[in-house]
Amino acid sequence: MLSVRQMIHKAVIPVAGFGTRMLPAAKAVPKEMLPVLDRPTIQYVVEEAAEAGIADVLLVTAKDKRAIEDHFDRNGELEERLAAKNKQALLASVSELASRVSVHSVRQAEQRGLGDAVNCARHHVGNEPFLCLLGDTIFSGDLLPSRQLVEAYQKLGTAIIGLEEVPAEKVSRYGIVGGQMIGEGLMRLSTLVEKPSPQSAPGRLAVAARYILTPAIFDCLDCTQTGAGGEIQLTDALRLLLEREPIHGVVLRAKRHDIGNPVDWLKTNLVFASRDPRLWEQLSPFLGDLLGREAR
Ligand code: G1P
Repeated sequence: MLSVRQMIHKAVIPVAGFGTRMLPAAKAVPKEMLPVLDRPTIQYVVEEAAEAGIADVLLVTAKDKRAIEDHFDRNGELEERLAAKNKQALLASVSELASRVSVHSVRQAEQRGLGDAVNCARHHVGNEPFLCLLGDTIFSGDLLPSRQLVEAYQKLGTAIIGLEEVPAEKVSRYGIVGGQMIGEGLMRLSTLVEKPSPQSAPGRLAVAARYILTPAIFDCLDCTQTGAGGEIQLTDALRLLLEREPIHGVVLRAKRHDIGNPVDWLKTNLVFASRDPRLWEQLSPFLGDLLGREAR
């Protein structure tokens, strides 16, 4: 275990995976750039990290993901135009986040899995604990996962995994943890298994796209063999980490939204719209109408 509790300064966001379930939309546009309301999904992820006090973000990208790097670059010409036309709200929408967070990127040479993507962050992260957020998953709620995990880390000083209970028939889609509940929504982990069958799963608490990792994870990743799906799995490296350090899991309070398939992407848009009174005022009569017509 780390003897001195360090602050969490950096976040790593792997965005290197294919968006197969969102084809053809995600053919030339990375799935993380598909919008939820007015901004790309990835912007919510970076905003969530910023809200938890992170000022340094590393995107682990792949060769077809240039648009994500471009999105976080300043665009001087656009900013000047908006300023000249006095479009302050739009100007803030394209520049405000950049003033709070510096976004860097590194390329994963080959798509060898989530574990390999995280290992690409080694040089940037150095010898510090860091937040890791999967770039295709966003959350809604009053306490977002990054803040919840940073707060848990400040108390516990160990690697922390964000968890969500899933139905038995869905365990094979996730990393599943086992261990002992030691407080309200708090588990001390004793095992983790990537995509187990319902019969072999150690429980129904799933790894839910947000982690605080300690720097020892990098040595564990170096020792991790190819696992589920023929990929280097972060879950397998965490099982090795567990032999060296305690790991805790916290059940996340926010609601997780998948944007990786059309139905869930559309639902996510509606949930986020329903949280914005001005948008909802315009949308709800339309939806009411549409549903009324359907019922007839
Ligand atoms: C990844 C992780 C898995 C986790 C899931 C959701 O799987 O490998 O452990 O449960 O994200 O956060 P993927 O969805 O990339 O197959």
